Amino acid sequence: MAERISLKADILRALRNAKEHISGQQICDEMGVSRTAVWKVMKQLEAEGYDIEAVTNKGYMLLSYPEILSGSELMSRMNTKWAGKRVYFHKETGSTNEDARYLAEEGMLHGSLVVADSQTGGRGRRGRGWVSPPGESISFSLLLKPSFSPDRASMLTILMAISIAEVISALHPDLDVKIKWPNDVLVNGKKVCGILTEMEAEPDYIHYVIIGVGINVNQTEFPEELAQIATSLRIEKGEKAGRPELIVAAMEYFEYYYGIFEEHLDVSDFVDIYDRYLINRDREVRVLDPKGEYTGVAEGINDNGALIVRIPDGSFRTVSSGEVSVRGVYGYV
Ligand code: BTN
Repeated sequence: MAERISLKADILRALRNAKEHISGQQICDEMGVSRTAVWKVMKQLEAEGYDIEAVTNKGYMLLSYPEILSGSELMSRMNTKWAGKRVYFHKETGSTNEDARYLAEEGMLHGSLVVADSQTGGRGRRGRGWVSPPGESISFSLLLKPSFSPDRASMLTILMAISIAEVISALHPDLDVKIKWPNDVLVNGKKVCGILTEMEAEPDYIHYVIIGVGINVNQTEFPEELAQIATSLRIEKGEKAGRPELIVAAMEYFEYYYGIFEEHLDVSDFVDIYDRYLINRDREVRVLDPKGEYTGVAEGINDNGALIVRIPDGSFRTVSSGEVSVRGVYGYV
């Protein structure tokens, strides 16, 4: 299992927050560790690429930090109450959703977060795969242990989709961010983020929910079969994007939205924001319903997160996620 890094993260946080040099003794006192332990962590951080100035009689100062994704980097930035409060980081793993499932079965807490630099067996929706190359992508899975009933759980995916859309928009205001119902996040009409929500439940009781998120951040190209529908933030921006800040901000937004969601246990408070991002809105969509395909115009979502589609006779149908898939009449959107 992944290592839980805590002293390193605490020291990194102290260095990051310090306005001036911070003395080794102060770090020792605050963290209850020896000078040697602090020195060892400083050396580890330097080996990872952090530029730390050490001045006699003044202490340590963080001059610059590397573009890396690591457990300590994430934990040193995290300011949430519960979402992502515990981070389990893997340089490489099969699937973070599988890791989160293991943690859930081991009794890990609500809000535990598994993050990987790369996945070798990333899973997508509907049995598809998901590619998470090292150094370029974000793969994380958030473990939730809600006390509400299982029929509410699919709406958590909507909350995560809005969180990711908001985070990308806030950190990269130059990008045109949209959501393809129910939960693909797009930039300039191509997919940058997919969400796979899985649940272990009894008919009236949720054991746990795992929300797995994959974001294409710094890929410079995609295989031919994906290039028409997938993109990365880097391709769209023309420059590299930082990964830790995206993950930390995603946890902050999700925690905030989850608190609002718990008040009504529906997405009534999120319909406006979701519909603003909804790329399908007022567009013709083809609903691939196993009971019979039909086309109509997508009007937005209802309080349960279902897509409202106006069909040619003027009546409305609601499309629940999971049952059917929705395509643009002329392609992906
Ligand atoms: C989709 O098909 O759009 C959903 C893709 C979800 C991928 C993420 S990456 C992190 C987590 N671990 C997985 O194996 N899948 C999800």
